[in-house]
Amino acid sequence: MGVKRVGFLTSGGDCQSLNATMRAAALGLYRENPEMKIIGIQNGYKGLINGQYITMHAEDFEQIGAKGGTILGTSRQPFKQIMKLREQGTDLTMSMVENYEKLGLDCLLILGGNGSHKTANLLSQMGLNIVTVPKTIDNDLWGTDMTFGFHSALEVATSAIDCIHTTAASHSRIFIVEIMGHKVGWVTLYAGVAGGADFILIPEIPYDIHKIGEIIKERIAAGKNYTILAVAEGAISKEDAALTKKEYKQKCRALPYASISYKIGKEIEALTNEEVRVTVPGHMQRGGGPSAYDRVLAARLGSTAAAFIKEGMFGYMVGIRDGELIPVPLSEVAGKLKRIDPESAFIKEMKDLGIVFGD
Ligand code: F6P
Repeated sequence: MGVKRVGFLTSGGDCQSLNATMRAAALGLYRENPEMKIIGIQNGYKGLINGQYITMHAEDFEQIGAKGGTILGTSRQPFKQIMKLREQGTDLTMSMVENYEKLGLDCLLILGGNGSHKTANLLSQMGLNIVTVPKTIDNDLWGTDMTFGFHSALEVATSAIDCIHTTAASHSRIFIVEIMGHKVGWVTLYAGVAGGADFILIPEIPYDIHKIGEIIKERIAAGKNYTILAVAEGAISKEDAALTKKEYKQKCRALPYASISYKIGKEIEALTNEEVRVTVPGHMQRGGGPSAYDRVLAARLGSTAAAFIKEGMFGYMVGIRDGELIPVPLSEVAGKLKRIDPESAFIKEMKDLGIVFGD
């Protein structure tokens, strides 16, 4: 029996190119398939739990390739919470399975990041036909070189650093630009390099604040009148990296700072006697339309996801490795993070340029 009813679901934090990817997958599914029906599950897994959906038509996917956000809506439904509730006797995954069956779906296409892949894998193990595509600005999904959203977020983060250069130079100030990325530093590393940051602090390379203070003082003594630090929201000091997860969380909760950059800023002020300003572009990095690169990636991922679905290749994420689109088993993706290798050639090349990683 061929696949005739496919559900689309966007899950977790939104990002650019969700719509472009759904458009591509829809084009691939509808092509030469007059009986194909696409059901849009609304607001992520929450919609699958509560049975919120819309029946979609080819026109719904027209002219959405350049549109930011997701036309289906999304939500966060943490895997940990799903499992906790399950242990307490409320099994949300059973509601998801029931609604999948009620809707008569032959397959569910999930556009999701790290957390969403844990749930996707669980649903696949429970017998649902699942195909996923890698979505997140963080680019931290294991099994794929690239996730859609990363490139667009990188453009926003880079232009934030670009803007800071002129005002930092006018005021002879130290500036921190805090960049999203959750527990990894991909957006920060790339934006820091592209934007010409002097320091790049990422979770994968814990920093020593005293070294940072010393190097800033040396820069001032050498006549450099401003300094820019690209700091990942997940950046961590060497001292804190030695703590357990629980100890670190407790320590953060007790601190009076909105985020790590404000802490680093205060410490640099104390060490250098210089003014520090913090800029947080925040969710702007996930907003607006996708970059041209992300639209192309979306077209490729969507096309291949449609091909997997039509061929009945379920239980896979469509990944991209060395430019080739490949099936990656969901069981291999779930629960793993793709982090930056501090020993990689890229990091070494950037250190050779004089960029300081604070280690
Ligand atoms: O995972 C994408 C991401 O934007 C992270 O970079 C960030 O830590 C998080 O989502 C923010 O989540 P929320 O939108 O729930 O505040």
